[in-house]
Amino acid sequence: MSQYRAYEVVEVADKQYQGSLVEKNEADLPNGELLVEVLYSSLNYKDALSASGNKGVTRHYPHVPGIDAVGTVLSSDDDQFSEGQAVLITGYDLGMNTSGGFGQRIRVPASWVAPLPSGMDPATSMRLGTAGLTAGLCIDALLKNGLEVDHGEVLVTGATGGVGIIAIGILAKLGFQVVASTGKPEAGQVLKTMGASEIIDRNELSESSSRPLLPERWAAAVDVVGGDTLFNVIKGLKYGGSVAACGLVQSPVFQASVLPFILRGVNLLGVDSVELPLLQKERIWSKLAGDWKVEALDQVCTEIGLDQLEASLATILSGGAVGRYLLNLQR
Ligand SMILES: NC(=O)c1ccc[n+]([C@@H]2O[C@H](COP(=O)([O-])OP(=O)(O)OC[C@H]3O[C@@H](n4cnc5c(N)ncnc54)[C@H](OP(=O)(O)O)[C@@H]3O)[C@@H](O)[C@H]2O)c1
Repeated sequence: MSQYRAYEVVEVADKQYQGSLVEKNEADLPNGELLVEVLYSSLNYKDALSASGNKGVTRHYPHVPGIDAVGTVLSSDDDQFSEGQAVLITGYDLGMNTSGGFGQRIRVPASWVAPLPSGMDPATSMRLGTAGLTAGLCIDALLKNGLEVDHGEVLVTGATGGVGIIAIGILAKLGFQVVASTGKPEAGQVLKTMGASEIIDRNELSESSSRPLLPERWAAAVDVVGGDTLFNVIKGLKYGGSVAACGLVQSPVFQASVLPFILRGVNLLGVDSVELPLLQKERIWSKLAGDWKVEALDQVCTEIGLDQLEASLATILSGGAVGRYLLNLQR
């Protein structure tokens, strides 16, 4: 079959974008060693940006978003991969300017492709997706910087979002006491199910203030919010604590003071899950399939088909989503 279905976004007028389901042809896909039948994708904040015409993510339209995909190899020009093999692709240029996982076919360079980790089924890999990989990378960075369970509370911001909710699940599984910061008090019970021990209102962290330091509270933090929230998190880190910063939902810009760094020796750890070398991604994926497996993940995941994409992307863009969306391309 050379025809396949995809959700394609078109620039209909200056700065106006519209997505729809279309039939596409494999011949329209870019060059690459592997042609993959996509079984599942997932929805991330970056997909919502791409689907709404954010040129910082996607420069050229028409475009099929979807930064994550799992599927089976239909053909491969690289002998590391064989027909029928289950493979996983996240990040690099997939779904940014390369036709992505919101279509039933992708063609990609072999250097972007990892075998599906053993012990993980395709749907689970996309319940996690880039959000899960990023949560794993944040926690890996904190552990490498010496975080231990008896150091105290670990803060997770943007707690009901994809990265946040999975970070809570992994940290709780590892025995940490997790404090979840959210703008959705009604989701408190869900966050507790994932393993949060306390819920705080994100407004407590989001206001700017001229104070360079706050009382020491957090042993560590995973921050997806950026902006003034990130600076407030840094101000409240305990001596020697670290924050893994991976997101910008409040703002990509933040004003800071060197005082927390030079008086408390705190660390700001940048996390990127997109351009990271494949071997490092695979190391985190195998942890996510093993010791870091989040048992309650399917309870915070909504499965959708291509025809439900538009509404779900709008919910993500407005910050209203709770948990993860799994996109089933076979529905
Ligand atoms: N560095 C990387 O490689 C990497 C990888 C993946 C994601 N990211 C970034 O990480 C961030 C989160 O991604 P995601 O996929 O988890 O997104 P998501 O599912 O949309 O979750 C974001 C969460 O942030 C909170 N939020 C939204 N607007 C906010 C605001 N104005 N101020 C404070 N909090 C707000 C909301 O949670 P509450 O209502 O619970 O507060 C929301 O659910 C994004 O900026 C994304 O681009 C980076």
